[in-house]
Amino acid sequence: MKTAARPAHSKILILDFGSQYTQVIGRRIRELQVYSEILPFDTSAAEIAAAKPNGIVLSGGPASVYDKGAPQIDPEIFSLEVPILGICYGLMLMAHHLGGQVKFTGRREFGAGTLEITNGSQLFEGLGSQVDVWNSHGDEVTALPNGFRVAACTTNSPFAAVEDPQRRLYGLQFHPEVAHTPRGREILQNFVYHICRCTMDWTMGSFIEDACERVRAQVGDNKVVLGLSGGVDSSVVAALLHKAIGDQLTCIFVNNGLLRAREEEVVQRVFGENFHVKLKYVDASQRFLSLLDGVIDPEQKRKIIGNEFIKVFQHATEELLAEDRKDGGGAHGGYKFLAQGTLYPDVIESVAIGGNPAQVIKTHHNVGGLPEKMHFELVEPVRQLFKDEVRQAGLQLGLPKEIVYRQPFPGPGLAVRILGEVTPERLRILRDTDTIVQSEMEASDWYYRVWQSFAVLLPVQSVGVMGDQRTYEYTIALRVVESQDGMTADWVRLPYELLGRISNRIVNEVKGVNRVVYDISTKPPSTIEWE
Ligand code: XMP
Repeated sequence: MKTAARPAHSKILILDFGSQYTQVIGRRIRELQVYSEILPFDTSAAEIAAAKPNGIVLSGGPASVYDKGAPQIDPEIFSLEVPILGICYGLMLMAHHLGGQVKFTGRREFGAGTLEITNGSQLFEGLGSQVDVWNSHGDEVTALPNGFRVAACTTNSPFAAVEDPQRRLYGLQFHPEVAHTPRGREILQNFVYHICRCTMDWTMGSFIEDACERVRAQVGDNKVVLGLSGGVDSSVVAALLHKAIGDQLTCIFVNNGLLRAREEEVVQRVFGENFHVKLKYVDASQRFLSLLDGVIDPEQKRKIIGNEFIKVFQHATEELLAEDRKDGGGAHGGYKFLAQGTLYPDVIESVAIGGNPAQVIKTHHNVGGLPEKMHFELVEPVRQLFKDEVRQAGLQLGLPKEIVYRQPFPGPGLAVRILGEVTPERLRILRDTDTIVQSEMEASDWYYRVWQSFAVLLPVQSVGVMGDQRTYEYTIALRVVESQDGMTADWVRLPYELLGRISNRIVNEVKGVNRVVYDISTKPPSTIEWE
């Protein structure tokens, strides 16, 4: 078995005190091509020292340092002689622990402000004397710890930025990581490159090489099975594993009969023909459709599809294992691993401040909780990456734009976009409509600017007129939303011309539809999908 030659790279650790922006800090630093990792606030100084970071960022957070149960830091961290940048709550903690004073002064600052840079701090190098910043704080530092000096102030805050350059400790009351602090990137750059002396070695190229080495070391001569959905995450994992271990990887692609038009062709073309990935294509569409026959309840639909997927996938894997036994494992060992497209946001331990003290770990199962008796060990080669990084990796690995930038598509597929019963005729109508929506969105370039754009078939028939004929046909709802993470969403103000063109094409080209409506509800209270 090969051992992973993992090159040491620069690293910034971020301690999470519960800010809504912690992940943004992580991403901003990675955009500077420096590896960053987010850790829970109570990570000990010893653990941090062992990780050998070039610098530490203390995130913001909703608590006040004096609150009962406010998240505390291991104060030994301040003695590690590693540069530290405290942002908002992070600054308050630093001041509080190092002998300064923090108070709620009643001068809350939320929103935009102007920062006056008062000395030549390395943190603000190249920024001139004034910059716009974004504030969101109630507490304020009122007395500095020994060794600290003011680096910048705002109208309301004499200590908006403070530093102890000797000990390389820095604190900001505002948020450099958010887009509303337009020159925040330069501030983070100064911290990361000049103060922490990081090198720009977190590139997709180096990540891919590194990830391939790790996979080879983990897998050895054994084989890996991957449930390929055609979505971005599993596609990138397929391309990455193929590069790392070639034909030791087999992908299973299940056609559940609820895919978009020609989806199975696209996946087979991209992975089978272009990449020469070993692909087991399982057409289970009839099984799924007959199980859905007569089912109307959305939850029941989802359960049926989820359970059936596990059965089909498990069966396909057993076939692979049996084939393997027959030919004595071929050139390799057996199938011991199951690959998953788990991403970094799924594995960061979220801090629950003020609520449930237990840390919630979000897990993610692309193949919907495969039975444990399958005894697979997991391979999760992109668990260090944010979504945008996964896309970059996909492009670098040679995946086409149509895969890398595709919009999210729900596991239960078109079944949750056909309200009421799923029938072959309704699937035909929705597929034809979906093809038009997708092609018009792509042609106008709106496809890549929105989170999702799709059609929903309503079980509502209404009267229309076509030529001299009365029609009595289905209604299509268009749903086009923008969102950061799918948790909240707003409807997109698409140009009327585009809406008109999509609507015209649908009623003219799709037999069975005579009306198109546009969904203008936000999430919450609506959801993105209709079922
Ligand atoms: P909702 O409808 O809950 O959807 O607002 C939020 C996001 O999740 C997607 N979605 C799913 N994705 N399996 C998935 O992989 C599912 O069962 C599923 N249901 C919803 C949805 O498309 C949206 O992006």
